[in-house]
Amino acid sequence: MDITILGIESSCDDTSAAVLRSNVLLSNVIASQAVHVKYGGVIPELASRAHQQNIVPVVDTALREAGVTADELDAIAFTRGPGLVGSLLVGVSFAKGLSIARNIPMVEVNHLQGHILSHFIDLPDRQLPHPSFPFLCLLVSGGHTQIVRVDSPTRMRIIGTTIDDAAGEAFDKCAKVMGLPYPGGPVIDRLAREGDPKAFRFARPHVEGYDYSFSGLKTSFLYTLRDAVASDPGFVERRKADLCASLQTTIVEILLDKLVRASKETGIRDIAIAGGVSANSGLRDGIAETGRRRGWRTFLPEFKFTTDNAAMIAMAGYYRYKLGEVASLDVSPAARLEN
Ligand code: KG4
Ligand code: ZN
Repeated sequence: MDITILGIESSCDDTSAAVLRSNVLLSNVIASQAVHVKYGGVIPELASRAHQQNIVPVVDTALREAGVTADELDAIAFTRGPGLVGSLLVGVSFAKGLSIARNIPMVEVNHLQGHILSHFIDLPDRQLPHPSFPFLCLLVSGGHTQIVRVDSPTRMRIIGTTIDDAAGEAFDKCAKVMGLPYPGGPVIDRLAREGDPKAFRFARPHVEGYDYSFSGLKTSFLYTLRDAVASDPGFVERRKADLCASLQTTIVEILLDKLVRASKETGIRDIAIAGGVSANSGLRDGIAETGRRRGWRTFLPEFKFTTDNAAMIAMAGYYRYKLGEVASLDVSPAARLEN
């Protein structure tokens, strides 16, 4: 029997609502918050207020676009964490209100599991490729960089994680140093297409096991710029494309190095990527190319599922609901929540 789920996502700076019928996406509405661009990063208090303004129209639009009324919903899935508490509170409180008003059960979702399970969503006119269990997922976002072993939709284990910055953070911080707008990841991606990936060499980390580190790379990037600008003030402007291409290539190589090792040592060859940085063209090309050489089946998410969205929250909620995992009304947001 079909299960109809409303998903609600408000963990950072995107307010999103989506409706899923089993695993088929009926609507996915995202209101992004332009307010943070002028500050060069997300301001939590402003994010929370913007969610508050956006949540009702976003949910309303998602239901209308799906052609579903609130009374037809089997469950309301919401992001419990990890994320900014003030942002999460808006989604959690809204879910509770709707749950009480319409007597619909709620399901709590871990945002990171949502990113991973976005690989199981289908579109109304098109089935998308789904990985088989167990698979490895490289989860790369603004806040996380993990290799996750996924044994089932609800059983996942982090086998590698960053010991300092996340990959998206490395993109964003280096972009800021070059005077590029926030978020810097997509801007670097665009500029990198015109540049020479071998123009500069930056430090690479030496970290045990499957863990990552990006702080050394960030410092090495900063010092390269500082030294060059001291004798040539126009350096960054003139070499922007080369800097972006070299930086992006280094980040992708660091990411792939541990992923290859994890695949070799676990014997798992279904490899997925997820999270905001999975939109990066260098990473997508790198995974596809490495996969061809190593006999992997690679799974690259549709672009609309790379950044934060409620479709993935509804998908994760669907699996939990099927297992009878319903949240109680005293649930509260969790800033930190592992997979
Ligand atoms: O998953 P996400 O939307 O939010 C978090 O949960 O963090 O990821 C946002 C991150 C930002 O750091 C942004 O710069 C990065 O994803 N990002 C990219 C690209 N598109 C988004 N990084 C590199 N290349 C891209 N094309
Ligand atoms: Zn995210």
